Amino acid sequence: MMKPQVEKAFNEQINKETYSAYLYFSMSAWLGSINLPGFAHWMYTQGLEELTHVQKFYDYIQQRGGTIRLEAIAAPPAAWDSPLALFEKTLAHEVAVTESINQLVKVARENMDHASEIFLQWFVSEQVEEEESVGQVLSRLKMVGDNPPALMMMDAEMGKRPALIASSEEV
Ligand code: FEO
Repeated sequence: MMKPQVEKAFNEQINKETYSAYLYFSMSAWLGSINLPGFAHWMYTQGLEELTHVQKFYDYIQQRGGTIRLEAIAAPPAAWDSPLALFEKTLAHEVAVTESINQLVKVARENMDHASEIFLQWFVSEQVEEEESVGQVLSRLKMVGDNPPALMMMDAEMGKRPALIASSEEV
C-alpha cells in the first residue's frame, strides 16, 4: 500500500506530466502556425512522450493499490515571441519537472517507501536526458540567430525525430 503522503504527491505528478503534454502540444501548434513543421513534429513527439510519463505514474499508483485522483489541468500559453523564447521556456519547464521528481524521491524516502524510490529512478535518469535534448536544441537555435536559411535547415533536422505512435493508434 502507498502511504497517503506518497499517493498524494504521485497524483500531483500525474497533473504536472499531463500539463507538460498540454504545454508541448500547444507549443507544437504554434510552431506549425509559423511554418516550422519540423519543430512542430519534434514538439508534438515530446508531448506524446509526456503522456507515456502520465501512464507510468497512473499504472504504478494502481499497481500499489493507490487511488487515482485527477485534478483540472491548467491552460498553457498559446503563443511565444520566437522559437528561441519557446525553447527557453521548455528548458525552464523541464528544470522545474526535475525539481518535482527530486521532491518525490524525498517524499518516498521520508516515508521509507523503497519501491517508490526505485520506481522514480527511471524518471531521475529521464530528466537528465530531457534537459540535455532540450538544451541542445536551445544551443543550436542560439547559433542560428536571425538566419532564416539556417533555421530552415534546422527545421528539416528537427523533423527527423522518430515519431512516437499514440497509444490509441497501437490498438
Ligand atoms: Fe515528463 Fe519532460 O518530463
